[in-house]
Amino acid sequence: MSVPENPSSLYVGLMSGTSMDGIDAALVRLHDNQCETIATKDYAYPPRLRSALLHASRNPGKTTIDTLANLDHWVGSCFRDAATALLEASGTPSSQIQVIGSHGQTIRHCPHSERPFTLQIGDPNIIASGTGITTVADFRRRDLAAGGEGAPLTPAFHQWLFAAEKKARVVLNIGGIANITVLAANRDDTIGFDTGPGNGLMDAWTQQQHDRPFDDGGAWARSGEVQPDLLSNLLQDVYFSMAPPKSTGFEYFNLDWLESYAGDSSFSAADIQATLLALTARSIGDAITRYAPDTREILVCGGGVNNVTLMESLSRLPGTAKWLSTDDFGLDPNYVEAIAFAWLARQTILGQSGNLPSVTGAKQAEVLGGIYVCGG
Ligand SMILES: Nc1ncnc2c1ncn2[C@@H]1O[C@H](COP(=O)(O)OP(=O)(O)O)[C@@H](O)[C@H]1O
Ligand SMILES: [Mg+2]
Repeated sequence: MSVPENPSSLYVGLMSGTSMDGIDAALVRLHDNQCETIATKDYAYPPRLRSALLHASRNPGKTTIDTLANLDHWVGSCFRDAATALLEASGTPSSQIQVIGSHGQTIRHCPHSERPFTLQIGDPNIIASGTGITTVADFRRRDLAAGGEGAPLTPAFHQWLFAAEKKARVVLNIGGIANITVLAANRDDTIGFDTGPGNGLMDAWTQQQHDRPFDDGGAWARSGEVQPDLLSNLLQDVYFSMAPPKSTGFEYFNLDWLESYAGDSSFSAADIQATLLALTARSIGDAITRYAPDTREILVCGGGVNNVTLMESLSRLPGTAKWLSTDDFGLDPNYVEAIAFAWLARQTILGQSGNLPSVTGAKQAEVLGGIYVCGG
C-alpha cells in the first residue's frame, strides 16, 4: 500500500523505550530532507503501570497471558492518550495528521532464540480508534522476519536527516540501551548497533538501592569512585567485542548480569554506580573508536543527555571528534526516537523501506509495520 501524502505533511511519533519511563510524543512536519518539530509531549506512565511493565519484562516466566493482554490494552490506552494530549496542546485537529507511528513498549527482545522474536505491546487498534488517525505499529518484527536483529531501526532516519552534508558523523542515542549510527562521508555505508548498556543498568541499580527511578544528573555516581578492576572485568563481556550486527536489551544487561561479575565483592553501592556509569561511557567510546575512527562529530540524543556526569565522562574520552547534542541541529534530544518513528511510519505509508540491512543484518530492506487504517 502506498498513499499520497496529505499536503500538511504532519506526522505523530510515539515512543517508549527500555527504560519504561513513559511515552515521548512528537508532532513533526516531514518533507524532502527536512524535519520540523511542531510540538512535543512527555507522558509519564502511571506508577502502577510502570511497575507492572518492569515486573513483566524482568519476570517473563511469571507473567500470564492475561497479564500480558491486560498490559497491551493499558499501554495502548496510554499511547492513545499521549497522542490526544499532544494534539490538544498544539491545537492541531486530528484530520491534519497523515499518520501516527507507534513504537509501542518493548517487553521482550530475543532475536537469537531458536524462533527469534521481539515483542512490543500497546494495542494499535486502541490508538487508531481513539484518535481517528491511521496508525502504523509493530515495526520490528518485519525486520526480524527478514533475518535481521529487529533493532536498531532509527539509523535509517539518522541517515535521512544527518547524512545530507556528507560528513563523517556518529549519532549516539542513550536510552536504557545505547546505540550508535555511523554515518560515513559516503552515505551508502551506514552501520549501526547497540553498544551495550545506556542508562538501564544505572537505573536498575538506583531502583534497587534507593527506590528512585534514576540517578538524577548522575549525582550518586559522581559521589562514588570507579573501581578499575570491576570495570575491566565488565568490559571483558563477550557482547562488547562481538562484531555488528548486534542488538541487546534488559534480557541481557540486568542486575543478574552485574552480579555475575561483582558477585561477593565488597564495593560500596555508590562505587558500583560510578563503575556502571564508566562502563556505559567506555563501551560507547570503544565502539566509536573501533567502528567510526574518522568521525568528526558525535550527535548525542536520548534521556542520557540529562545525566551531566555521564556527559562529562563521555567528553573526557580520548579522540578528537566534537561532542554535540542533536539540539545543535534543531532536534530536541529527548524526542529523536519518537520523531524517528513518525518518519518510519511515513516510509511505511509511502511504501518505502525503513530498515537498513547493513545495520540489522536483514536479508533485504523491507516496508516495516502493520497499518491500522482510519477513514475512507
Ligand atoms: N535528569 C536526569 N538525570 C539522569 N538521568 C536521566 C535524567 N532524565 C532522564 N534520564 C535518564 O534517561 C532515561 C530515559 O531515557 P529514554 O531516552 O527515554 O530511554 P528509553 O528510550 O530507554 O525509554 C531515564 O530512565 C534516565 O535513566
Ligand atoms: Mg523513554
